[in-house]
Amino acid sequence: MAEAMKKTPELRETNDFSAMLSLARESGLESDHLTGIVSAYGFYLDGILVGCAALKKGDDLFRVECLAVAENMRGRGLGRTLVARIEKEAVAKGARKLWAIARLPRFFERIGYRISSANDPGAPKNDDCMTCPQFGKSCCPAIVVKDL
Ligand SMILES: CC(C)(COP(=O)(O)OP(=O)(O)OC[C@H]1O[C@@H](n2cnc3c(N)ncnc32)[C@H](O)[C@@H]1OP(=O)(O)O)[C@@H](O)C(=O)NCCC(=O)NCCS
Repeated sequence: MAEAMKKTPELRETNDFSAMLSLARESGLESDHLTGIVSAYGFYLDGILVGCAALKKGDDLFRVECLAVAENMRGRGLGRTLVARIEKEAVAKGARKLWAIARLPRFFERIGYRISSANDPGAPKNDDCMTCPQFGKSCCPAIVVKDL
């Protein structure tokens, strides 16, 4: 682990959804599939995925999906960099806002997002959360948004 901390992971586009879902699950997310993904990015260290995020488009809105950083790589700015990359991608695709249904809303607030609600015009629906076993227990998600 100490060796991994010294190296700098490389950011690149990825379509390795299987590795992304594994990392997301290891990071505590209830991710079992990815749909509507426009593009995805990963941080790689010695060929291993140590961070990921995806841009999802659906119902005329753009969302950050499957954001996860391996536990031993956190606190080094990888999460922030991944979301910034997804924002750039969203702008290139014509997005004016980027949304997330955030398990850790405070993280998103730190990087310039504001708390929204499902009643906001254009907000994503968090219906999936209602059937998630973590909902209200280990996860109290919030809808967050940033104007791009
Ligand atoms: C959330 C996550 C992606 C953050 O990754 P990271 O690489 O550690 O984040 P960064 O180092 O880029 O942190 C960016 C900022 O967010 C803050 N931050 C990071 N994790 C945070 C947390 N859990 N709660 C509040 N703020 C947090 C950092 O302090 C930093 O702020 P600062 O620069 O003003 O000091 C990572 O903790 C993770 O994978 N968590 C488990 C999976 C998960 O819950 N994903 C969904 C997130 S909504």
